[in-house]
Amino acid sequence: PDVIRKIVANNNMTTELAKVIEHSFGTYMVGCGTAAYACLAGTYIFSKIAKKHLNWSVGSEFGYIADFLTPKSLVLALSQSGETIDVLEAVKAARKKGSKVASLVNVEGSTLFRMSDLNLLLGAGVEKAVVSTKAFTAKLANLMLLASILSKNGNEVTNMLKKSIIAVEQVLNEKNLKEIRNLVDLIYKKENIYVIGRGLSYPVALETALKIKEASYIHAEGFAAGELKHGVIALLEAGTPCIAFLPNDETYDATLAGVMDMKARGGYIIG
Ligand code: F6R
Repeated sequence: PDVIRKIVANNNMTTELAKVIEHSFGTYMVGCGTAAYACLAGTYIFSKIAKKHLNWSVGSEFGYIADFLTPKSLVLALSQSGETIDVLEAVKAARKKGSKVASLVNVEGSTLFRMSDLNLLLGAGVEKAVVSTKAFTAKLANLMLLASILSKNGNEVTNMLKKSIIAVEQVLNEKNLKEIRNLVDLIYKKENIYVIGRGLSYPVALETALKIKEASYIHAEGFAAGELKHGVIALLEAGTPCIAFLPNDETYDATLAGVMDMKARGGYIIG
């Protein structure tokens, strides 16, 4: 909650980068792991809020699709540490094409920070755990503010972010944490966990699965809920935990249909 609160308070820092995105002939986000999922989330955020298409790629693949870059392109690198080699290589590839480079980076003075024409500091504070949750939250909040500046609809997004501060506090309250611990007792011995979502909850599902893998060493996969019927459902066995994100938005009914399919296969549904 503190990270979002600080980002909302420093909103004015995003204006310069928003202008650069507005005037670039194509913006291509790049990041690895959690940062890559923030990039994917960014495509949804920019489409929804600013009606603008932003492309993205994982850092290690960027070099293979960099041929389309021109000096008018903007590469927006997302990174907590600013030292991830695949991201730095992508930035070098962009430089070779004469493209502009901007960064959403947490560590001031990092290699990425120094290589970029323009930096927006994430403001996530010091990351003490591997899971990068504060940085992920900070990336999404900053991307929302950037998109809101382009849409000239800043107030609505700022209010949404302010509401999210309260929501995150509720997630982290003792009562909720106790429920989560009880749930963990039920599933921690399982071999597989599947996570589904649609829309913005799709990158969140991918990120959730990565968190489970990294923090608990349980095999977890995130899917776009609509992909279940294209083969993924075959993986489900009776009792497999299935986490489904069902926000109260346009994705609700369709995701619920996916949940029903998982339940019919005996999935242990965690909504
Ligand atoms: C996820 C994680 C990794 C990093 C990735 C990029 O919890 O730790 O997936 O997100 O290695 O790191 P940064 O953001 O430092 O470039």
